[in-house]
Amino acid sequence: MSIRNAVIPVAGLGTRLLPATKSQPKEMLPVGKRPIVQYIVEELNLCGIERILFVTGRGKTSIEDHFDDDPDLIRNLRETGKEDLLEELQYERIGINYLYTRQRRQRGLGDAVLCAESFAGTEPFVVALGDSIIGRHRPSDIVRRLIDAFETHDAACAIAVEEVPREQVSMYGVVKPESDTDVFVISDLVEKPAPAEAPSNWAIAGRYVFAPGLFDAIKQTGFDHRGEIQLTDAIRRMLSDGRRIVGVRLPPTEKRYDIGNFESYFETFVEFALTDPVYGEKLRQHVRELLGENS
Ligand code: UTP
Repeated sequence: MSIRNAVIPVAGLGTRLLPATKSQPKEMLPVGKRPIVQYIVEELNLCGIERILFVTGRGKTSIEDHFDDDPDLIRNLRETGKEDLLEELQYERIGINYLYTRQRRQRGLGDAVLCAESFAGTEPFVVALGDSIIGRHRPSDIVRRLIDAFETHDAACAIAVEEVPREQVSMYGVVKPESDTDVFVISDLVEKPAPAEAPSNWAIAGRYVFAPGLFDAIKQTGFDHRGEIQLTDAIRRMLSDGRRIVGVRLPPTEKRYDIGNFESYFETFVEFALTDPVYGEKLRQHVRELLGENS
């Protein structure tokens, strides 16, 4: 069975990126030439996704505008002879059906995904975080590999994981793999563990495939001490109900760029800009000059 539905939660407040996110969604911040969320939509499109539900919130309407057709802009570009720029708007025509729903109160990622219950219906679906790009040179096919693992292992959930330094595990959900293989069964997972208590240094990397049973697990999962429902806790609940959860490792060549804080946002922007096929070379020269002046 092919999976055609994906959910992109974009309702978070993005407080770690204030003031940049005061009046614009963090998922719309540019990385190189494109807003972050465009990379995610293009990745999902290449993996065969046909329908995307954005779970949005207050102040996020620019995401809807970005994926909407804009006949006035297209006419303006044609009339002013800027046909070459039309290519930059090709993403508007990739044939995906976009839907939107609102998470009315920001009560965590688990709560945001629960807003997709009627969209998903009885079919398995993909969840791709709106603030995480996977891979730099070309869109990753990790979602395709997750779908394969989900189907081959008859799993309730398949999760992409990346290796992170042990001292950083407390920033992520972390899994306990049962084997060293690229695709493995997960025997436990913990949200933001202390390094000494982490079951491994393999962190959940913002891409998942779920059976619709996830929604019952979310409903049975309580709020944490911050008043949020964690998606990781709902997955853990599925595990304790005896459901099979599998992990798929991202190789080092397929890095996950998490744009949730300024340190990683700056690093990601610089990395993408420096390797831009058109502007990268000049920028590298400029940076070399800057560093030379300052040293
Ligand atoms: P984060 O965990 O980074 O949370 O969200 P956040 O609220 O956006 O950011 P901070 O912590 O205030 O800086 C990961 C993804 O889940 C979405 C976010 O939009 C982001 O794409 N999310 C998070 C929701 O949709 N709803 C929520 O309640 C929380």
